[in-house]
Amino acid sequence: MSYPYQINTIQEYRKEYEKSVSDPEGFWEEIANHFTWRKKWNSVLNWNFTEPKIEWFTGAKLNITENCIDRHLATKGDQPALIWEPNDPEAHHRVFTYNTLYDKVCQFCHVLSTNGVKKGDRVLIYLGMIPRLAIAVLACARIGAIHSVVFGGFSAQSIADRLRDAKAEFIITGDGAFRGQKDIPLKSIIDDALIGVDFVKRVIVCTRTRIGVSMMKGRDVWWEDEIEKVETLGLKDFPAVEMDAEDPLFILYTSGSTGKPKGVVHTCGGYMVYTNYTFVNVFNYQPGEVFFCTADIGWITGHSYILYGPLSAGATSVIFEGIPTWPNAGRLWDIIDKFKINILYTAPTAIRSLMSYGLDTVKEKDMSSLRVLGTVGEPINEEAWHWYDENIGKGNCPIVDTWWQTETAGILITNLAGVTPSRPGWATLPLPGIQPVLVDEKGDAIPFEIKDNPTGQQVSGNLCIKFPWPGLLRTTWGDHQRCRTTYFATYPNLYFTGDGAIFEDNGFIRITGRVDDVLNVSGHRIGTAEVENAINMHAGVVESAVVGFPHDIKGQGIYAYIIYTGHQKNDDEIRRDINMTVSRVIGAIAKPDKIQFVTGLPKTRSGKIMRRILRKIAENEMDNLGDTTTLLDPGVVDEIKRGKL
Ligand code: WTA
Repeated sequence: MSYPYQINTIQEYRKEYEKSVSDPEGFWEEIANHFTWRKKWNSVLNWNFTEPKIEWFTGAKLNITENCIDRHLATKGDQPALIWEPNDPEAHHRVFTYNTLYDKVCQFCHVLSTNGVKKGDRVLIYLGMIPRLAIAVLACARIGAIHSVVFGGFSAQSIADRLRDAKAEFIITGDGAFRGQKDIPLKSIIDDALIGVDFVKRVIVCTRTRIGVSMMKGRDVWWEDEIEKVETLGLKDFPAVEMDAEDPLFILYTSGSTGKPKGVVHTCGGYMVYTNYTFVNVFNYQPGEVFFCTADIGWITGHSYILYGPLSAGATSVIFEGIPTWPNAGRLWDIIDKFKINILYTAPTAIRSLMSYGLDTVKEKDMSSLRVLGTVGEPINEEAWHWYDENIGKGNCPIVDTWWQTETAGILITNLAGVTPSRPGWATLPLPGIQPVLVDEKGDAIPFEIKDNPTGQQVSGNLCIKFPWPGLLRTTWGDHQRCRTTYFATYPNLYFTGDGAIFEDNGFIRITGRVDDVLNVSGHRIGTAEVENAINMHAGVVESAVVGFPHDIKGQGIYAYIIYTGHQKNDDEIRRDINMTVSRVIGAIAKPDKIQFVTGLPKTRSGKIMRRILRKIAENEMDNLGDTTTLLDPGVVDEIKRGKL
């Protein structure tokens, strides 16, 4: 099967783009017709951005797993759906054909069902990158339960916050998870998260690392025991539960500029169509190719481009349990060689980190199978882009720089592999269906024209999107107002992305990074307010302010200015303790890279912290601080400058 809606020339791109703007409903309806629906829609789109209300394929019925699994069985049942590469390079990899995946998912649906999971229930999943993570996610989708996957790097406290917010009564986890040299005690972290939580009915625990775990009678059960029961009963097929196109498929928590992570909600129909469409078109996926996305399934990239996008397209997708630098920095190149990967999708931070090990790790690896390379998560610097192009793609592979967000479900702005031109550092063109606009600080649209004879003229501003596409988030779980105020209220009738961008008059778009108080550390979104809240929980901390600073590998590092009046110990000890507090409250990913102790913070007369100044100092732009005379205490700035780390 090839894809009738695959764009193969730049002329086709232009034609499709135009159609998607002049007749969005007709455009998406034609694509949606290529999926398996139990019942088709009454109307394609109902929307307004004021509430906001966003509905795609209203009235349609489907189950996404029938599209990701069942519909492929007749033609590609024996084709690998998922290939799993374990953390330990000496251990055996595993291949799951579409037939096997079907059996495993059905089997686990029975487990969920016999344990009381029903349509609409929330299931929190906290697992490492093992095939059972994919099986758990897909089984939830098949039974109609709403999955909420939490990345293995989050702490017990973060899990507890998400559990309570989603009121998840079911948890799927493991004894532990392998990641490089680390062995993460998943179950014990879950146990900590569950202290004082009384609404969780069942915790299903699978074995991976086989460290000791505590199993609470009546609440905790072993995955393997439950499977055995299902086998004994001879339960096999599990009919997919019919879902409304607008029923929630999953909740994924993500950081914003306020203290508390938001539960972004995606629904069954639109999410399916959009992830499939973007997967097929951005990577120009050809049937039979092996696709390798290095993200963790705990992030949106893993949801959309390890699982739902590739599987709905009948592709072969690789799940990698380990990390790119263990046991050595040649790990990804070995995997490419081993499975003859055709498409590699990774993050700029991974590329920069691997670059730093030099070219020895690349030599003698056969990467001739590669056809397309991709990046996601943050702007890619030109040096990394060229390194990736020359040493991994050998100058033969188009690189797609894909810009998108948890809230957008799939890629919005990118070049199309081998179809539209690339330019280092530029995400380039919007996909069909995506109508980007730039607004200034006041919210006025910045006038802008794409020219037939471009002159290189550029404008910059805040990036918004003015029309919905099927993958746009529908709400934030349990708090629709929050969805409105965060994304739809800043600029009336526009979805605000939180990113800044530059438009050039040839139509190309360059993403310049967040314009709100959200950091992008190694491609992970972290809210400064969240980190500050965590730091402030440490005894002895009076106040703190967190900003980003340029970091060679991570893209952005976390710089914390802290007023500390606690018991006097040496500074490094206090730093270590504060880091420990942040690890406990959020997770190790949010630990500050630099902590500077200060006696005061620069504030306006109304008491607002002047982050702009702190950011400049952290970025080493000391001579360019702007007017500081209006500060409450201008003297504090000099002190902070002197103490800069
Ligand atoms: C940033 C990840 C520049 C951006 C899929 C966005 C990028 C945030 C790119 C979303 C890119 C992602 N170029 N910046 N190609 N891709 N970003 O929700 O700031 O984890 O708002 O989704 O990452 O991060 P999230």
